[in-house]
Amino acid sequence: MLRKKLAIGNWKMHKTAQEAEHYVRALQGLISSDSGPFLAVPFTAIQGAAQAANGSKIRIGAQNMHEAKEGAFTGEISAEMLKASGASFVLLGHSERRNLFGETDEKVHQKLVRALQVGLIPVVCVGEKLEERQHGKTEAVLRRQIEAALLGVDPEKIVLAYEPVWAIGTGKSASAEMAQDTHAFCRTIVGAKTPILYGGSVQIDNVSSFCSQTDIDGVLVGGASLHPENFAQIAKKVLS
Ligand code: PGA
Repeated sequence: MLRKKLAIGNWKMHKTAQEAEHYVRALQGLISSDSGPFLAVPFTAIQGAAQAANGSKIRIGAQNMHEAKEGAFTGEISAEMLKASGASFVLLGHSERRNLFGETDEKVHQKLVRALQVGLIPVVCVGEKLEERQHGKTEAVLRRQIEAALLGVDPEKIVLAYEPVWAIGTGKSASAEMAQDTHAFCRTIVGAKTPILYGGSVQIDNVSSFCSQTDIDGVLVGGASLHPENFAQIAKKVLS
């Protein structure tokens, strides 16, 4: 996806389909018609949220998918199913998927290839753990995650999200300067045209400090995206 400003909300395991529809309607009333935030919602909320967002600039996506086209994979969801439900993008390799559900770099790559085949924009999430940063391994970890995910794929086809694991859901965001340094490093791998988002404890009061950095194109927001008023304010600061 060519470089532009982006604000993505990641609801994680929150909201029923009905709650999602209410949220999307509320958000439409709070944002201008030419600014389009993205929302990564639970599978069960994709269709309703996408219908509610129809005609607006809001884009609905998923938080994960299976890499196979179809088959005997009980409990899994394919890229085609997401696309047919109204998803236009998918988060891949979120640190909760990697650390709680054993998702490997290789799987992230396979999912990325499959997502592109069906026309979903892959939002590839990468990030180092606290001990990796403390031991000076941040760049090696990020290089491995990004190169393995892309492996022969044009970086211009994806969105990259840098989310330091120690900043997710902790209230301890990276400083804007630290995030900028790390984004500049990621940019040496993906090039000038790929949007790179920062994620990890983004809030209304710190979002502008991130978005004023040269290599930060927007944000991936967890907890602070759960209320439409809050997320609308964040999205406005990013997209205006
Ligand atoms: P947070 O989550 O904003 O609640 O830290 C970000 C994410 O996990 O994408």
